[in-house]
Amino acid sequence: MLEPMRTTPDRADVLAERVSKAFIVDDRRTQALIGLDFQIQAGQFVSIIGPSGCGKSTLLRLVGGLLAVDGGRITVGGRSPQEGRRAKHFGLVPQTPALLPWRTVKENLTLLPRLNHGQGSRVMDDERIDELLVAVGLARFADSLPAELSGGMQQRVSLARALALRPPILLMDEPFAALDEITRASMRFLLLELWRDTPATVMFVTHSIEEAVLLSDRVLVLSSRPGRLAAEIVIEIDRPRRHGIEDADSFHHHAALVRASLDRATIGADPAGAS
Ligand SMILES: Nc1ncnc2c1ncn2[C@@H]1O[C@H](COP(=O)(O)OP(=O)(O)OP(=O)(O)O)[C@@H](O)[C@H]1O
Ligand SMILES: [Mg+2]
Repeated sequence: MLEPMRTTPDRADVLAERVSKAFIVDDRRTQALIGLDFQIQAGQFVSIIGPSGCGKSTLLRLVGGLLAVDGGRITVGGRSPQEGRRAKHFGLVPQTPALLPWRTVKENLTLLPRLNHGQGSRVMDDERIDELLVAVGLARFADSLPAELSGGMQQRVSLARALALRPPILLMDEPFAALDEITRASMRFLLLELWRDTPATVMFVTHSIEEAVLLSDRVLVLSSRPGRLAAEIVIEIDRPRRHGIEDADSFHHHAALVRASLDRATIGADPAGAS
């Protein structure tokens, strides 16, 4: 039976209340997250920063409905993450692009929407694909295979794919970490431009303080494992943010705030992460 057509919102809020998650492997229990509380308003750009292994990727997977919480609750636009996932609420940009190697750039973009057809979600037309390819500067490479593209170009395809269906929530897990510094800098500004036209709520995991400050409305700092919310920094820098903003005093001021919070969050941590 066909599901009734549902209208998908442009953006949705994310609410986490006392969220906990542990992994048990061979009787060994790893508490990844504990008692995590936060709220992200619809349309906000929020970065998540914290030491390695503190549960950032786990958090994105919980919000995206790929994992279930053990304790507490997450809602996305008032629904459970699993319902949100069925309603195609999420665009995911993983750390490595994970494109289908035997499909062209254009096919990599169309395949996902085709799978969605008939499930009550929006279907992407040729016009949208062309628009996205232009937006990420790859119009000339529509018929190329991923192996013919550089790492940065592949990551731009991945970004376009995540945005294809205009998801209300964009989940990005260190998407630019594998890129060289110059490509990475231009990807940050490209993302800001795309986000201005696609008003999604963004959760962006990064290890870079500068990246978090440049992109975000707010930065959530997680403690060492088990990850909890250690600090929250509001980035009061006007938008649009352009090249060169990294040299401004207000930028340095915010970066120093994030760095100090991150240092505090990491000091005194149990390095074994035992729980
Ligand atoms: N599927 C899993 N099975 C068992 N343990 C897991 C699983 N996924 C994550 N963990 C553990 O949970 C903890 C948090 O992992 P997670 O990948 O969320 O950290 P992270 O903050 O994203 O780290 P990084 O910055 O290195 O990417 C780690 O101790 C990890 O070993
Ligand atoms: Mg991770």
